[in-house]
Amino acid sequence: MSPPIFVLNGPNLNMLGKREPAIYGTATLADVRQIVESHAASVGVATDFRQTNSEGELIEWVHEARDRASGIVLNAGAYTHTSIALFDALKSAELPVVEVHLSNIFARESFRHHSYVAMAAVGVICGFGVRGYTMALDALIEHFKKPAA
Ligand code: DQA
Repeated sequence: MSPPIFVLNGPNLNMLGKREPAIYGTATLADVRQIVESHAASVGVATDFRQTNSEGELIEWVHEARDRASGIVLNAGAYTHTSIALFDALKSAELPVVEVHLSNIFARESFRHHSYVAMAAVGVICGFGVRGYTMALDALIEHFKKPAA
């Protein structure tokens, strides 16, 4: 089996289910993990699902991914909009990254319209709730099949 896809979640995503359910829905992070892992199993890929509230830890996981993952699905939460350090880490990982957000960040406050992560990503999926994670996994798997340009 190929190396796992790292599914990394940033700050406040441990609060899913309780946090602004009108925006983020009622599924908990444990529910998201279960949906991701059962979808991954059904399409025959391994995943390594993690969440942290720490920018440094998220960056260290991206460094780890360079040698241990085949790609990254990343919901970096608010670090998406603020972290040049995370952008630099993603560039250094030299791996395909799909950015995901539960909410449609472009229909929200203007400070959410810019993403540093997007500049290092193959593509971005947002606004589809938890389903965005399985869409992101599928997008990454499709991307693996493409010959290098
Ligand atoms: C989010 C969108 C971000 O703007 C926000 O800071 C989050 C969650 C999402 O999944 O919709 O924490 O990444």
